This record gives sequence, structure tokens and C-alpha cells, in this order.
Amino acid sequence: MRAVTWHGRADVQVDTVPDPTIQEDTDVVVEVTSSGICGSDLHLIEVMAPFMSVGDVMGHEPMGVVREVGSAVTAVKPGDRVVVPFNISCGTCWMCSQGLQSQCETTQNREQGFGASLFGYTKLYGQVPGGQAEYLRVPFGNTLPIKVPGGLPDDRFVYLSDVLPTSWQAVQYAAVPPGGTLLVLGLGPIGDMCTRIAHHLGIEKVYASEVVPERVARAIARGTEVIRSTDQADVVGAIRDATDGRGPDAVIDAVGMEAHGSPLASIAQKATAIVPDAIMERVMQVVGVDRMAALNTAIEAVRRGGTISLSGVYGGASDPMPLNKMFDKQIQLRMGQANVWRWVPDILPLLVEGDPLGVDDFATHRVPLEQAPQAYADFREKKDGAVKVLLQP
Ligand SMILES: NC(=O)c1ccc[n+]([C@@H]2O[C@H](COP(=O)([O-])OP(=O)(O)OC[C@H]3O[C@@H](n4cnc5c(N)ncnc54)[C@H](O)[C@@H]3O)[C@@H](O)[C@H]2O)c1
Ligand SMILES: [Zn+2]
Ligand SMILES: [Zn+2]
Repeated sequence: MRAVTWHGRADVQVDTVPDPTIQEDTDVVVEVTSSGICGSDLHLIEVMAPFMSVGDVMGHEPMGVVREVGSAVTAVKPGDRVVVPFNISCGTCWMCSQGLQSQCETTQNREQGFGASLFGYTKLYGQVPGGQAEYLRVPFGNTLPIKVPGGLPDDRFVYLSDVLPTSWQAVQYAAVPPGGTLLVLGLGPIGDMCTRIAHHLGIEKVYASEVVPERVARAIARGTEVIRSTDQADVVGAIRDATDGRGPDAVIDAVGMEAHGSPLASIAQKATAIVPDAIMERVMQVVGVDRMAALNTAIEAVRRGGTISLSGVYGGASDPMPLNKMFDKQIQLRMGQANVWRWVPDILPLLVEGDPLGVDDFATHRVPLEQAPQAYADFREKKDGAVKVLLQP
């Protein structure tokens, strides 16, 4: 089959790799029909490159049609339409039964000291072949795939794999009180969806910070007030002005370590050097090279006693955090990979009934698998209006 594979820093290619097969009697093989490219994939071709190997199959946001099932699979059958969560969770262990699927005790990577395995991710998370491919082997066929109805385009359901539960969890963890204010940092797919969910759940005052014009425009169109800067002083000043000098009740960091910065300063330099695009350069300038920039803005901006909800992914263990300030401001910090299945019962009915979150036209690009290298480059460099790209194998 054809699959998007990792070849190095800023280098993905489409290769022919062996077709996946049933290995356990609970496995299913899914023919992939749509598969998202995520901000997390950008970390893999930048900062997290040391944890990848040449030939790794990328992708953790797939959906498709079940083609083969193992002998013990009863929950789905060939022909069923399914979305595959990005966490590989068994659905039956103690953590899964607590709704903490990203900590699944059956797939936890204990040797590495990391949580549940993820599709198409690093050695730290099991190095499991991903879903930017024609076919995907999915374990736990009775509990992991999310069955979705036919009759509607893939766009309606595909974001159940990651963007929707990640953003839903981010807004839940933000715990904005009635009448309160939320600030979302970053309007990539995750930040954008966070603002949509926040409006849907009745949070009245939703602000965001972003500089990429088309991302700003999408959020404004849906009623979010956008601070058109990512500079800490600008953002903190603007949000305090809007909140009686106090700061928002909650801040969602939907940025993470982004395409810049790294555990090693030298990699940061390289990443900067290979981004040619003017907009990205502007982002780099206004954001600075400190990869904690967004988190630091969140800590500075949030009101005393407020909550920071972190969905952006950070790497490295030695980043200095302003713990004294966090303590003094009595900040509550909640974070983690999304527990996809935890939120499916809340989200799936919304998608079946209609499109309150605007997923039908959320994707800016739908391209064949063979065009993945260009699509990655455009998404990474924020070129050609790329906000969310779906690959269609
Ligand atoms: N927790 C999870 O389960 C989970 C799941 C999916 C994605 N993520 C993470 O969420 C983050 C966002 O993902 P995405 O797909 O939206 O990525 P993205 O890279 O498309 O979006 C990030 C956006 O943040 C903006 N930005 C950069 N620095 C900023 C700053 N200092 N302040 C405000 N905005 C800034 C960029 O211009 C960009 O538009 C990534 O770190 C990704 O790894 C986490
Ligand atoms: Zn993702
Ligand atoms: Zn489990």
C-alpha cells in the first residue's frame, strides 16, 4: 500500500510499504478514506525528530471503512464506517474505565515512562504505524473504533479522532465559570475548534490571540474577539483591558512548542533556517524563539485563581517554569493528551444531528495521499491558506 512516511527533519514522502494484516484476533484492518494532518505531526518533523525512524508511517487522525476483522471481533464488521481515535486504548483497563484513555494501562509505554501508545507517533509512544496510509491495522476492534453512520461526508466525523475531543477536553479543563471569560492562544485547528466549542457550550466572552490572517478571519467570522498579536505584552495588555484589569478566568494554550524551538538550541536554529515563508518568519519574529512563549503568556495573562488548560504539546523536561509566579497567582493547571473516548458520547450526537461546530467546511484542503509532502509543507509554513488539511488515500 501507499503511505506517508517519515524521512527526516521537514521531510515526509509517500512510499510503498507492506499492507497491514490481522495479527491478534481482536484486530481490524481499516481502509482509510480521510486522514488529517495535525500540528502534532509538525513536532515529529521538527523537534521530536530524534524519536522517529526513517520509514515510520505518519498519521493519527484517520477514518475509513472496516475491511477485515479478527475472529474475536463482534462490535464491527466489514463495511462498517469507523473513526479511529489517536490514542490506542483498550477500553477495559482501570484507566480507560476512569475516562483516562490516554493513560491506558494496557498500552502504556512503561519502558519509556510514557502513557498510552499513539498511532503514527514517536518511540516514546510505541512507534505504531499511523493512518496517513491506504490501510491501517487497528487493535482492540471491539472497543477502539468509533462506529459512525453513513450518508454524510467524511468531514462530518473525521475530527472525532483528535481535533474535536482534544478541543472539547481543553474547554472542559478550562472550567470557565458562568459569565466568565476565556482566552485561547493560537488559532490552528485546535485553537479554532476550542473557540467554536466554547461558544457552543455558552461561554459568552471568548478571546483569542493569533497573527496568521486566514486563521484570524475564521475565528472572527464565528464571533471570537481576536487579539492580532502573539507578543506577551500586547496580549496581556489587551485581555486585561477587556476584563477589568483582572485577566480571563481561563486560558487555553493551543500552541505548544510549535514549529520553532526544541530541546536542543541547535535544532531550533535549523528549524528556523529551513522555514522560508514570509508569514512564518513573521510568526517567528513576533513569537520569539522561546518555545515556552505561549505557556508563559498564559501564566501571565490568566487572572489570579484562574485556570490554564494546556493542550499544546511541549517536549523536554528541563524548561524552567515560573513556579513562584504560578504559586503566587494560585493558578490551576490542567493538561494532557485528549482522552478521545471520554468525550465521544458528548460529541457524536451533535454531529449526527447537524453541524453546530462547522466541521463540514473546517478543512481548507482535501488532497490525495500522493500530495502529502506538499500539503505538509504548506501546513507547516502556513502557506496557501492551509489551516486544516485532509489527505484522501
Ligand atoms: N493534547 C492533545 O491531545 C493534542 C491533540 C492535538 C494537537 N495537540 C497540540 O495542539 C497544538 C496546536 O495544534 P494545531 O494543529 O492547532 O497546530 P498549529 O501549529 O496549526 O497551530 C498553532 C498556532 O499557534 C500560533 N502561535 C504560535 N505561537 C503563538 C503564541 N505565542 N501565541 C499565540 N499563538 C501562537 C501559530 O501561528 C499557529 O496558528 C500543537 O502543539 C499540537 O501538538 C495536542
Ligand atoms: Zn492530531
Ligand atoms: Zn486501557
